[in-house]
Amino acid sequence: MATPLFSKDLISPSVTSELPKGYNLRPLQKSDHAEFLSVLTVLTKVGDISLETWSARYDWMAARNDEYFIVVIENELGKVVAVGSLIIEKKFIRNCAAVGHIEDIAVAADQQGKKLGLRIIQALDAIAQQVGCYKSILDCSEKNQGFYEKCGFKLAGVQMAHYY
Ligand code: ACO
Repeated sequence: MATPLFSKDLISPSVTSELPKGYNLRPLQKSDHAEFLSVLTVLTKVGDISLETWSARYDWMAARNDEYFIVVIENELGKVVAVGSLIIEKKFIRNCAAVGHIEDIAVAADQQGKKLGLRIIQALDAIAQQVGCYKSILDCSEKNQGFYEKCGFKLAGVQMAHYY
């Protein structure tokens, strides 16, 4: 099914115009199941996610399509080669402000170094601004700090985790 996870109107034309020839940046769609999960394996363990499980999670996110924004880049063959997520947190502080959380950025191993990661971040930044976030934040490993600095992010604080 080609229904996008969220409105295509939120995709920045100026970001898509910078993609390599034939490439396209668009919202995730349900039919991306296998290709989307495959790209994420460069980031971490993904697990064996059945179509049914995928579909249930996709529908849950699609019902919250003002909170969950997942974008993909497809190559000239229509194959998903880069992905990234933005989750919107609505707060009470700062007069009920909103903050964007950038998560799960991944570019297929054979597609890295073509500025696709940069375009994913720029697209998510543009969405965050359009939906009213005053900032976006993310956690990353030290080896990726230089990448996020190239994307315009600054070191701000310390990442901590409590695994359950
Ligand atoms: N350290 C320093 N600079 C880097 C790095 C790095 N690890 N990776 C890329 N850059 C630089 C590039 O050289 C380029 O610089 P330039 O403009 O001077 O030429 C610029 O950053 C943009 O690079 P892209 O070509 O857009 O990078 P790419 O498409 O390869 O994507 C990414 C980078 C997402 C880190 C990719 O290598 C990847 O998928 N890695 C594995 C998964 C991963 O670690 N994801 C990030 C997890 S953190 C999170 O999700 C919030």
